[in-house]
Amino acid sequence: MPAIVLVGAQWGDEGKGKATDALGAHVDYVVKFNGGNNAGHTVVVGGEKYALHLLPSGILTPGCIPVISNGVVIDLSVLFDEIEGLTARGVDCSTLLVSSNAHLIASYHRTVDKVTERFLGKRRIGTTGRGIGPAYADKINRVGVRVQDLFDENILRQKVEGALEQKNHLLAKVYNRRKIAVEEVVEELLSYTDRLRPLVRDTSLELSRALDRGDMVLFEAGQATMLDVDHGTYPFVTSSSATAAGACTGSGVPPNRVDRVLAVVKAYTTRVGEGPFPTELTDEAGDQLREAGGEFGTTTGRPRRCGWYDAPISRYAARINGVTDFVLTKLDVLTGLERIPVCVAYDIDGVRHDELPMTQSEFHHARPVYEHLDGWQEDISGCRTLDDLPKAAQVYVKALEEMAGKPISAIGVGPGREQTVVVRDLV
Ligand code: GDP
Ligand code: IMO
Ligand code: MG
Repeated sequence: MPAIVLVGAQWGDEGKGKATDALGAHVDYVVKFNGGNNAGHTVVVGGEKYALHLLPSGILTPGCIPVISNGVVIDLSVLFDEIEGLTARGVDCSTLLVSSNAHLIASYHRTVDKVTERFLGKRRIGTTGRGIGPAYADKINRVGVRVQDLFDENILRQKVEGALEQKNHLLAKVYNRRKIAVEEVVEELLSYTDRLRPLVRDTSLELSRALDRGDMVLFEAGQATMLDVDHGTYPFVTSSSATAAGACTGSGVPPNRVDRVLAVVKAYTTRVGEGPFPTELTDEAGDQLREAGGEFGTTTGRPRRCGWYDAPISRYAARINGVTDFVLTKLDVLTGLERIPVCVAYDIDGVRHDELPMTQSEFHHARPVYEHLDGWQEDISGCRTLDDLPKAAQVYVKALEEMAGKPISAIGVGPGREQTVVVRDLV
């Protein structure tokens, strides 16, 4: 079973990094196929904590080849800072491969990201400010700069000129900011060329050959289903395809080579930034989840909005991604609750909806219909099999599985690599 896609089922931060890392030992290649350094994955290995943004989490497994494929937008200063930081801690980054077709995030993308958010005021998205949206906008507008452009200085200059022409008008005339000089950008980008050159490949070809050999390839999504630009809560989304199909366009590996799709889902729900969130708790219960789950952003440090588990969202994620297995995370965070509310449907203007409504306006009005399940008091962080879990926790897991319609094959009971209940083998 050589190609596996791993996605987030909710609004991100489900624990994809830990899940990827846990699979790492069985995997030959780990591919980041979408997003950029808006992602933040915290992985705990042997008590050591690693925060990854641009590098796939598989980098922490010796022998696993990390790949940044064409669907990613790369901020080169972040890439090399991350490589340096990890190398200093003894992580081998020398096998990293980077697609020649990946797009670059330049300083003007970060500037535009920040000024547009400010300009949007109350309608802001709450982006990470990393230039992600503007870099993808340039890609779609066909004025993006790609990795391969660094290898031809004339082409690079022309492309940067093209990208800045409109933006400088906008920055100066609409946003009242200083214009950005072409040479400044070209020089900054060129300063990375020598370090980048040895990493650059036709990664689609490399992956195709790897799959032909029978190697195991894991595609690791950044962000999540509800942040996907097509299938998420638009416009409160990121600007890339974070669902399983994005693994194909984002890597050049076709759909019929994908064998299994794993979706990581938290035992409750969190969201960072603006946008609708039916089960959000704005009271003490939300604060308690945030504290117990350490729900503060890995990338921006922002407190995450917290709420109960939302079954219609998991069902939606199962359908959109073609999920074969769920990985349920952070079950330990719910320990100590008397009763645990689970959203089983929405009440939208007096009408019950078992699935996500057709329009975004309806979703904004969705009020959760809750069922209450029994909680448990025992510490579960040392559990390793289903039978180790208290009965009530087993019932909770079973109920979530039935509502989502796909098997839960692993359960996280703590942040550590080994703190996982394995129900059935994922690879
Ligand atoms: P990602 O963006 O999906 O990779 O997730 P993040 O790393 O942003 O957020 C997940 C957080 O939960 C991280 O701090 C992980 O160390 C932590 N984590 C992952 N799985 C578990 C789990 O099962 N239990 C607990 N308590 N923490 C977990
Ligand atoms: P991981 O991979 C949670 C959110 C931002 C904002 C919206 C758009 O760690 O799960 P962007 O900067 O991408 O244009 O912001 O998307 N967002 C995330 N939320 N986890 C992430 O990544 C996110 N990446 C982006 O908060 O609401
Ligand atoms: Mg994260």
